[in-house]
Amino acid sequence: MFKINENYLKLPGSYLFSNIAKKVAAYTEANPDKSIIRLGIGDVTQPLAPAIIDALHSAVDEMAHAETFHGYAPDLGYEFLRSAMAKNDYEARGCEIYADEIFISDGAKGDSGNIQEIFDQDNKIAVCDPVYPVYVDTNVMAGRTGTYDPKSEIWSDVIYMPCTAENGFVPELPKEVPDLIYLCFPNNPTGSAITKDQLQVWVDYANKNGSVIIYDAAYEAYISEENVPHTIYECEGARTCAIELRSFSKNAGFTGVRLGATVIPKDLKCGDVMLHSLWARRHGTKYNGAPYIVQKAGEAVYSEAGKAQLKEQIAYYMRNAKTIYDGLKDAGYTVSGGVNSPYIWLKTPDNMTSWEFFDYLLAQAGVVGTPGSGFGPRGEGYFRLTAFGTYENTKAAVERIKNL
Ligand code: MLT
Repeated sequence: MFKINENYLKLPGSYLFSNIAKKVAAYTEANPDKSIIRLGIGDVTQPLAPAIIDALHSAVDEMAHAETFHGYAPDLGYEFLRSAMAKNDYEARGCEIYADEIFISDGAKGDSGNIQEIFDQDNKIAVCDPVYPVYVDTNVMAGRTGTYDPKSEIWSDVIYMPCTAENGFVPELPKEVPDLIYLCFPNNPTGSAITKDQLQVWVDYANKNGSVIIYDAAYEAYISEENVPHTIYECEGARTCAIELRSFSKNAGFTGVRLGATVIPKDLKCGDVMLHSLWARRHGTKYNGAPYIVQKAGEAVYSEAGKAQLKEQIAYYMRNAKTIYDGLKDAGYTVSGGVNSPYIWLKTPDNMTSWEFFDYLLAQAGVVGTPGSGFGPRGEGYFRLTAFGTYENTKAAVERIKNL
């Protein structure tokens, strides 16, 4: 008889956002006349920018002719996109990252889940608490997290780094040295940002201890403050200790189009072995590349027109963030995030648990958010709203919450 990967059975419940979707579906079925505003999952609502649409159209036309048709993409992704990223995301910021250190993929979610495969099972991971659930769940699937205590909601072999109001939602260096450190800044879910000096401390720590930082930069486009780094490679020494995950979902609205990248500098080594080689082997074996038309769309993100249009799109969402932040503050809520991030993190009122507040907000205001406890035990008593709705819905949701 075959055996299953029993690690899957250790996973508590279903994936957070599937859970929420089920709850909302049940609610709308029972209350078909209620209008619902969704500020839960961080999914965008604005259409793709015109420069991106043009690029998609012309790439589709290319596929219609034998002379310009494209089959399998190159292993690492098309040179035109990797070069555009190297130039705009790194060279322009004074960072030393080369096109052949960038692996194009179909999004940061998959990469953030898959990257752990190139590391030994015995590596110990450290995660922020609260945290984007994918980092933990995929390590559970790999059998790297020990046993789960449902009471404390803690895995025995995971190092949790509390991100609380007291530390400004930026973790402190853990006492026990981890092998792999997951960091995401601007942060999902708390919306907090890390300064360059703070991040440098992590890079120095990782280099000193032989740890690898897996840095999720999916929200970098929302940075509005000067001293906040857009990439970990702004820090000195990051080439020898950091992998960076990039996404086109939040900066360019590709949640349904799918495009991302993982950066592994060739200086990042375990003895003589470059992690770059391992990921290249994995990528070549398990992946056939993001579609040509999507990579062309990604290239348009870096065109002059694309950049200008996306700047406006980010500004649109950031106006939503400010509307939520200011509105909830006025209403007496304790709020953070929303300045360098599309996420607003609020304290639930009247000692409600995160899920109690979720149910209350859904039933009383018809607003869907994300319970903080879904991101980890230290998210309990918090709630996340996203700025990715339409402006009209965002305004209406804030009014509804204020009127409660
Ligand atoms: C979120 O809401 O946390 C994100 O949309 C999830 C994701 O990007 O996969």
